[in-house]
Amino acid sequence: GIELGKLLASTGYITHDPGFVNTGAASSAITYIDGDAGILRYRGYPIEQLAQKSTFIEVSYLLIYGELPTKTQLDDFTEKIQRHTLLHEDLKAFFSGFPRDAHPMPVLSSAVSALSTFYQDSLNPFDEPNVELSTIRLLAKVPTLAAYAYKKSVGQPLLYPDNSLGLVENFLRMTFGFPAEPYEVDPEVAKALDLLFILHADHEQNCSTSTVRLVGSSEANLFASISAGINALFGPLHGGANAAVLDMLEGIKNDGGDVANFVSRVKNKEKGVKLMGFGHRVYKNYDPRAKIIKNTADEILGKIAGGDELLDIAKKLEETALSDDYFVERKLYPNVDFYTGLIYRALGFPTKYFTVLFALGRLPGWIAHWREMIQDPATKIGRPRQIYTGETERDYTPLEQR
Ligand code: ACO
Repeated sequence: GIELGKLLASTGYITHDPGFVNTGAASSAITYIDGDAGILRYRGYPIEQLAQKSTFIEVSYLLIYGELPTKTQLDDFTEKIQRHTLLHEDLKAFFSGFPRDAHPMPVLSSAVSALSTFYQDSLNPFDEPNVELSTIRLLAKVPTLAAYAYKKSVGQPLLYPDNSLGLVENFLRMTFGFPAEPYEVDPEVAKALDLLFILHADHEQNCSTSTVRLVGSSEANLFASISAGINALFGPLHGGANAAVLDMLEGIKNDGGDVANFVSRVKNKEKGVKLMGFGHRVYKNYDPRAKIIKNTADEILGKIAGGDELLDIAKKLEETALSDDYFVERKLYPNVDFYTGLIYRALGFPTKYFTVLFALGRLPGWIAHWREMIQDPATKIGRPRQIYTGETERDYTPLEQR
C-alpha cells in the first residue's frame, strides 16, 4: 500500500478523500474494530472481557506496552504513577488565571501543553527513557489537572493527591473532596468510572488520536501532541457529544418528553438538530461499548440515583430511532456517548465536565498511538495534499485601481 501510494504521488495523482473515510494513514497493532459486526478488541482482547475482568490501570498498561502485565509489572507501573501525581506549585498557579466559567476542556489542554515547559528534560521524542518518563508523568498528572480544572470552575480549594489511593479513587477525592476533611470514596462510583475509562481507552484512528499522531509526526513531543488531541476531542461531533446528548435529553424533557416530535425534526434535517450520541464513521451496527454502557446505566441509575427520567427518554429515543427507516437505512445506532452522560451525571459530574472524563479515559490510547507512531520506521510527517480550486494565475492590481 505504501509503495503504491508513493508511486501514485510521483505521477501527480492525488486521492480526494474528505474526512479520510477511506484512507489508511497508519499501520497499527493496538486496536481492532469490525464496524459491521460491532467488534472492538484492545491488543486482541475483546472489550467485553476487559470490561468485566480488567481495570483501567491494567488496560492502560496493555495498550501502551502490548501485553497484560504480570503482578510485578502492574505493581511497579501503579507505584510509578502514584509517585508522579503531584504538580509543580507554579503549574497550579495557572488555574487562577482562567476565567471561573471557562470550559474545563481548554483549561485541561492548556495545562497539558504547559507540561512541556515544566519538563524540558523529556522533550526528545527519540530518547526512550524520557518518553517513558513522560508517559508516566501524563498518566499520573492528567487526573490531577482534570480535578483542578473542576475545582477551579466551582471556586473550591485544590487538594493535594493522596497517593495511598488508586488512580480513580485519587481523582474522585481531588474532584469532590475538601482539604482537611475525610473523603470516603464510594466503591460503586469508583467501579463505574473505572469501567467507563476502560471503554474509552482506545478506538484506533478516531479524530483525536489521528490528531495526536499527526502532530507527533512532526516530531513534536508527547505533551504537545496529547494537548492537541484534547482539543480535537472537545468538538461535539467527537468527545463533546456526551455533553450534547445530555443537553438534547434535557431539551426533550422540557418540551414535555415529546420524543416523536424530536425524531421528526432530526429526520427533516432541521438546522442544528441531530440525534446526538447516534451514528459512527466505523460502526454500522450497535457500538459494543454502548451495549455495555446501557446495562451499566440501568444498574447505576437504579442504585445511585433511584431511577432517572432522562434515562427513560433516552431509551424511548433509541427504540423510536431503531424502528424508523431513516435510521435503519443509514445504519445509525447508539454510539459510546449515548448513555455515558447519564451515568456521569448520576456520579455527580456537571455536564460541562463530561468530555474531560472522556479525555481521562482516552489518554492511554493517545499515548500508545504516539509511541507506536514515533517507533514506526514507516512514519513520515503527516502532510495531506489538496485539490486546488482557487484562481489561476493573475497579475497584481495596485490598491488605487481596485
Ligand atoms: N442524527 C441524524 N442523522 C445522522 C446522524 C445523527 N446523529 N449521524 C449521521 N446522520 C445521517 C447524515 O445526515 C447522513 O445522511 P444523508 O446520507 O441523508 O446525508 C448519513 O446519516 C451519513 O452520515 P455522515 O454524516 O456521512 O456520517 P459520518 O461518518 O461523516 O459522521 C458522526 C459520523 C460525526 C459520528 C455522525 O454520525 C454524527 O454527527 N453523530 C452525532 C454526533 C455524535 O454522536 N458523535 C460522537 C461519535 S462517537 C465518538 O466520537 C466518541
